[in-house]
Formats: sequence, C-alpha cells, structure tokens
Amino acid sequence: MPNKRIKRNERFYKQFQKSRKYVLYPGEALELLKSLPSNSIDLTFTSPPYCIGKEYEKETSVEEFEKFHQEILSEIVRVTKDGGSICWQVGYHVNDSIVFPLDYAVHAIMSKFEGIFLRNRIVWAYGHGLHCIRRFSGRHEVILWYTKGSNYYFNLDDVRVPQKYPGKTFYKGKRKGQFSGNPLGKNPSDMWEIPNVNANHIEKTIHPCQFPVALAQRMIRGLSRKRGRVLDPFMGSGTTGVAAILDGRRFVGSETKMKYFRVAETRCLHALRKQLKHRPLEKPIYQPDPKTRVAQNPFLKNSYALKIEKRDFQKH
Ligand SMILES: C[S@@+](CC[C@H](N)C(=O)[O-])C[C@H]1O[C@@H](n2cnc3c(N)ncnc32)[C@H](O)[C@@H]1O
Repeated sequence: MPNKRIKRNERFYKQFQKSRKYVLYPGEALELLKSLPSNSIDLTFTSPPYCIGKEYEKETSVEEFEKFHQEILSEIVRVTKDGGSICWQVGYHVNDSIVFPLDYAVHAIMSKFEGIFLRNRIVWAYGHGLHCIRRFSGRHEVILWYTKGSNYYFNLDDVRVPQKYPGKTFYKGKRKGQFSGNPLGKNPSDMWEIPNVNANHIEKTIHPCQFPVALAQRMIRGLSRKRGRVLDPFMGSGTTGVAAILDGRRFVGSETKMKYFRVAETRCLHALRKQLKHRPLEKPIYQPDPKTRVAQNPFLKNSYALKIEKRDFQKH
C-alpha cells in the first residue's frame, strides 16, 4: 500500500476513534470497512452500485454483483454491533427488458450468516421515473432490513405516521366512546411512498441516483439511538450522512468518486450548520388541484380546460 494511503487511513481511523460527528473516507468501501473495529456500528443504511452501467459503475453481471457483495456483506456483519441493523436498498438489474431483483442476490448471501435475521422487506414506492414501452414502468425499489441478533433496537414511536381516521372511537365494550387509535399515530407499514429525487426535487445534486433524505431519516429514527453510529459505505452524495447528522447521530461513510465525495462533504457541513435544504419526512405527497388546467383531461366534454380553450379561441 503506498505511504500516502497508509497515512490517510491512519488519519481516518484516529478521527473515527475520537467519535467525530462525521468522518468521510475518500476511497474504497472495503478499505474503509477493514479499518473499522468489530461491533462498532449501530446501523448501516446504503444503496450499493447495481452494476447496470450508471455513470459511476461498470455494467457487469448479476454474478459480479454477488461476488462483490459476498466480501462487502461479511465485513458489514462483522462491524455491526449486536442488536444493530443492516439496511440494504436495491432495485433491479435490467438487461434487454429482462429484470433481476437484486434483493434476491443480497438475501441469498445474508441468509447464510449465523445470527442475522431479516425483519422487513420494505417497498419504497415513488411516482416518477422512466416510461417503459415493453413492460410496466418501474416505480419501486426495496430495502432489506436485517438485525444482528434478536435483541435489537426498534423505536416505532419516533416513526409513526398520522392515523387515517384519528377521530375513530370504540363503539362498544368498556372503552366505548374512547379513541381507538394510538394518539402518536400508526405504524408506517412496509410500504413507503416517498418522492424520489428527480430533476425538480429540492435535494437534487449532480449525483444521478440520490435517494431522498426522508427515506434515510425514517430508518435512522426507527433503528438507531441518538449519538449512535450510522454507516454508509457507498455514500454517493452523502444522503445517509446528512440524515444522520440532522437527527443527532454520528456518521461514517466512503465514496470512490471524488466529485460525489465533495458533494457529500458540502452537504454534511450544511446539515451540521442546519443550512441544508431538504424535503421533510412529514410533508404529504403533493396532490394536484383538480381544478387546475394541467390536472384536467382536455378531451373530456365540459372539462375546465376545454372551456378555457374555447374562451381563448373566441377572444381571437
Ligand atoms: C447508488 S449510489 C449511492 C447514492 C447515495 N445513496 C446518495 O443518496 O447519493 C452508489 C455510490 O457508490 C459509489 N461506489 C461504487 N463502488 C464503490 C466502492 N467500491 N467503494 C465506495 N464507493 C463506491 C458510487 O460512486 C456511487 O456514488
């Protein structure tokens, strides 16, 4: 290993040991992982390269993805504390309209580790993306949530969502007339609808595959304690780091591409200074006003859009 790299790794390790609020490693995930002590991480939340030929990755096969993951995941398991969590967010490997769900490959590896248990397979659904012609357009990805051991941390109260019918009451029995739902809200379930980061999103950076801060925030709030250590070995623009800092956790991350690494550095600093613009987790999904012109079908008889068009036509 060249001297420069040894020095960089030593510096990184010292910062990690000092429990800095965040430590970012400009290099290979595996190198970072090998430098971390066993049982030192509370939660890993990451989205690895899918090997489908994005700007930051080589287009390779599912077999390559599996080979790479075998090594990475065994290190992730080693660095995770007992009772800690590992959340792997993946989509599909697509080749000539043939899709392979990458979570199948991840689970095949994870299920072989002793003491590692799958708790949820969360579907992350979103509204925007490419329009497919030869198959249905993809509008979801998945997050596999594993725990190391059975005595794991899970804070449901910090991630509850509003009840659908908060005013609903028991209609009979001892508690008749009392509110039947939990006043803190309901369990968010394993189906999460959170807008993805498209070109108009407030969080958009130069990274082509950012996930939204809100997605990481729900994981971090639910699966790690305040001041706990959160890891993202493929941090890209640093979204997991940003979410960890905003919610008072410490963060460790790595990224090989310097242009994304610099974005992550800037975003983490902005999060620390509470200057980062992001879409709050609690913000409801935008529903277009049905009275607006763009929300109406112009070909329907008596539509508002058609009336406006007729009026404009008559003016001229
Ligand atoms: C799917 S993106 C992650 C995006 C991130 N979740 C965000 O919100 O910006 C995967 C990232 O992993 C980086 N990467 C690929 N191979 C890597 C490796 N071996 N070590 C560290 N980073 C790597 C890529 O450059 C890319 O930025």
